[in-house]
Amino acid sequence: MPEYIHVSVAWPYANGDLHAGHLAGAYLPADIFARYHRLKGNHVLMVSGSDSHGTPITVEADKLGITPRDVFEHYHRRFLEAQQAIGISYDLFTHTDTENHHRIAQDFFRILLERGYLYKKTQRLLYSETEKRFLPDRYVEGTCPVCGYENARGDQCDHCGSLLDAVDLINPRSKTDGSTPVVRETEHYFLDLPAFIERLREYLADSEKERRWRPQVLRVSRNKVEELKGRPITRDIAWGIPIPLPGWEDKRMYVWFEAVMGYFTASVEWADNIGQPEAWKKWWYNPQAKIYNFIGKDNIEFHTIIWPAELMGVDGIYAREEDGTLQLPYDVPANEFMNIEGRQFSKSRNWAIWVPDILQRYAPDQIRYYIAVTFPETRDSDWSWQGFVTRNNNELLAAWGNLVNRVLKFAHKHFEGTVPSPGELREIDREILAKVEGGFPRVGELLAAVKLRDALAETMALAREVNAYLDRAPWFKVIKQDRQAAATTIYTALRCIDNLKTLFAPFLPFSSQRVHEFLGYDGQLFGELRIERFQEKTRDHEALTYHVDEDVVGRWQPSELPVGQRLRTPQPLFRKLDLSLIEEERARLGQPRESESLPGQAS
Ligand code: MF3
Ligand code: ZN
Repeated sequence: MPEYIHVSVAWPYANGDLHAGHLAGAYLPADIFARYHRLKGNHVLMVSGSDSHGTPITVEADKLGITPRDVFEHYHRRFLEAQQAIGISYDLFTHTDTENHHRIAQDFFRILLERGYLYKKTQRLLYSETEKRFLPDRYVEGTCPVCGYENARGDQCDHCGSLLDAVDLINPRSKTDGSTPVVRETEHYFLDLPAFIERLREYLADSEKERRWRPQVLRVSRNKVEELKGRPITRDIAWGIPIPLPGWEDKRMYVWFEAVMGYFTASVEWADNIGQPEAWKKWWYNPQAKIYNFIGKDNIEFHTIIWPAELMGVDGIYAREEDGTLQLPYDVPANEFMNIEGRQFSKSRNWAIWVPDILQRYAPDQIRYYIAVTFPETRDSDWSWQGFVTRNNNELLAAWGNLVNRVLKFAHKHFEGTVPSPGELREIDREILAKVEGGFPRVGELLAAVKLRDALAETMALAREVNAYLDRAPWFKVIKQDRQAAATTIYTALRCIDNLKTLFAPFLPFSSQRVHEFLGYDGQLFGELRIERFQEKTRDHEALTYHVDEDVVGRWQPSELPVGQRLRTPQPLFRKLDLSLIEEERARLGQPRESESLPGQAS
């Protein structure tokens, strides 16, 4: 029975380009996981979009002297292009400024209010007398009341990770003009999180989670439940989703309150776009469906506490009686961070690997491979250019690319470019085939458990086994004297390559597709990503969409490469990288970005 798998991917703030940290933290793991499940024949719905609201966007807009909308539209477009190019296969990558998202977020707000999960309270907030406005948390800096770090942001301390209340900062100062803000009163809506404590405890106590969830995710979440307080979910700002109540025209929803709803709203939008407006229920109201949230470790609490509480609070939304209960996240495989050459990512110092930039210099699969072998699944990882170049040359190219090239070339030279007839397989052939075919259950299990780094290591180990097989089996030296023996070896190696192509496919979709074609197949292993424009009542928007032609979907199962199949002429799968690139690339770090495109400029 095919499973229903929902892949909910963190929504990037549209205030700057995507960087390798985004890929390592959430987008690439989500894509690999989704591609695996599609190959497996499961029903995958993978959604995300640009997080277009919140102070990360307005801060950037203020800095550039343009509107928040200009900022988010500019980066949204670049997200679509970069993710299409590197193959993050969203069924829908939309944004939070659609009418659909606004409408549903307001519905959530109304239902929570009607059911008594929202309450009004007067808050004391920091007000700037020089700017005559309340200062959003991100506009304030000061000393962290928890750890004493002097440059904590108003909303969170980057040093100890604590979520903060800006009024609690010691020595607060405005980031805009350095002035000292004063405390003023203002009224806001709060989400009554304590009302959900019992249900959240139960949700997190589930013993199955104990085995499935990453221990750090469970630990952080369980601790947070025990100290839950109500949280304000409206703000004194102008950019964001309006509060659907008279008298609240000057306030907006807090960005996190509505952004997490995007997993749901994008599913509804996807269903509308494909003309099956109820299709989202096959995941959200299906107790057998599994919803996975791919996020970075700094976002755990929003996904294991706040988002589940919101879902519990609005249960039944748009459901018919027989629909049952809204599904909560089944797993939240949060990743740690990725550093660069031993130092933390920094946008302001340009200590970063920008996705659009590296895509101009390297193939998508070279980038995907390096990030995937170093995924920060259990601890922070480090992008080093030394590692990038050597792993490309010594692993990807030496163990996989060359294997494909060597065997296919030989078949072209000596077997008229077809899959030779093997005669009877020998022990050594059956052994390697069995080993590689055993990869489907073994690697599949690791992928399903979101142990992606191990899954890739296992697959690469199988490629090495095939190389070792070719060192032992007769082909190269015997082709003149014993053509049949060589044919048996090449046949076996081609079958192994055909299997490895599928095993590598979630990680390396572009090169697996090429190997698929070299082996003489037609059709696609995966669907196609398109940038499409959608029209709503008052405005339209662009989104990334995934399209599959059902009868060409590849399958997660052993190869049945037909004898006599005509092969295509192989091209090298990966480019060898010169060692001099290491220094060249390192020298770029911390320098002003060459190709930086800012909103308002032609890109
Ligand atoms: N925009 C947030 C960030 O970049 C992530 C939001 S994830 C969502 O850190 F679930 F809220 F959408
Ligand atoms: Zn701190």
